[in-house]
Amino acid sequence: MAAPDKGPTQHQVAIVGCGIIGRTHAETIAERPDATVTALVDSDAATRDALAAWLKEAGQPEPEVYDDLTSALTESASSLVAICTPSGTHAKLAEQVLNEKKHVVIEKPLDVDLPRARRLGAAATRAAGYGVVSSVISQNRFGGGSSLIHEAIQAGRFGQLTSAVATVAWWRTDEYYASAGWRGTWAQDGGGALMNQGVHTVDLLLWFMGRPVNIQAQALRAAHHEIEVEDTVVATLTFESGAVATLHATTAAFPGSRTRVSIHGTEGGAELENNRLRRFNADGAKDDVEVETGPPARHREQYDDILGAIANGGRPSITVQDAIDALATVRSVYIASTLQRPVKFIDVLEGRYDDVDVSRGVRLPPD
Ligand SMILES: NC(=O)c1ccc[n+]([C@@H]2O[C@H](COP(=O)([O-])OP(=O)(O)OC[C@H]3O[C@@H](n4cnc5c(N)ncnc54)[C@H](O)[C@@H]3O)[C@@H](O)[C@H]2O)c1
Repeated sequence: MAAPDKGPTQHQVAIVGCGIIGRTHAETIAERPDATVTALVDSDAATRDALAAWLKEAGQPEPEVYDDLTSALTESASSLVAICTPSGTHAKLAEQVLNEKKHVVIEKPLDVDLPRARRLGAAATRAAGYGVVSSVISQNRFGGGSSLIHEAIQAGRFGQLTSAVATVAWWRTDEYYASAGWRGTWAQDGGGALMNQGVHTVDLLLWFMGRPVNIQAQALRAAHHEIEVEDTVVATLTFESGAVATLHATTAAFPGSRTRVSIHGTEGGAELENNRLRRFNADGAKDDVEVETGPPARHREQYDDILGAIANGGRPSITVQDAIDALATVRSVYIASTLQRPVKFIDVLEGRYDDVDVSRGVRLPPD
């Protein structure tokens, strides 16, 4: 890859967590003329050095390397920090970044713990007051047709929304879960098929349908009995508009099927499959409308949005509050499965179920 010409207005980016997604962030920044990876932080030196070696090979300036965020914040001159560590560490690390008045990009999910996420939400609101930007990765909102669906809904082109169907039917091997100690644990993954793989789709569902009201759910460990969390979940949701939805996420669908979101209304609807627009009807017309949407987005498009917000002193498209809503929806599903009754989203969001131990809510299939 030819290194782009790096202009004078550089964002100096520190990447915290240099594993699978940390590399995606490094690749994304390396492609940009307006940003440079200046620091790599990972408690595992080998992982960090491997990413530093990749940057060197890609013709990028040599980054400083650190074992922990505290040292990086004290010693490096970064202006933006990308949090790419296991999910259960996100909010605490992000709050540390905001305390230093630096911009922060947080990988999904925001965290696994709602009280920590709420504290981060308050910190992000305070930081926005002095021009510091916080955003949470949900790259599927960019490109591939999802923004077209969102705009059509906002413009009323589907009429009254009546229902939605969202399914994430993937396969993950036992080796995947064993590949890092945090995967499949309540403390650091915070859940399974829905929290880790499905949270992108939860975010899209809320973006399209609005906030949920009531949630009922069943979670189980259908195939991967060695993990703590669920590998399969089904839920039904009602929304403030009165519309309803079903939500399904699994990592037990061999050999791996599709992610699909269908939106239905009285005057139209649309379907995304693997983040590509497969159907679009609007304005009461029976025929499919042909629309150009471009390929599904990657992190690049979301970085355009975030760095644009920093440059213009604006708000990024995806806020910490959006990610709190997605996290509260996932938690609502686990809580409903644990209590074996419907729960109100607002009660979960506002902390009235914070003490529920959701690990009890994941069932094994009967013998
Ligand atoms: N947006 C997406 O599509 C997407 C895709 C994959 C993963 N993710 C998210 O990214 C996060 C990381 O996932 P991954 O697959 O890259 O995990 P990974 O295990 O490959 O990498 C995590 C890295 O963080 C390091 N680390 C752990 N605690 C740390 C700490 N306190 N300080 C510094 N480094 C620390 C580990 O040593 C490891 O190298 C998860 O939250 C995951 O949900 C998002």
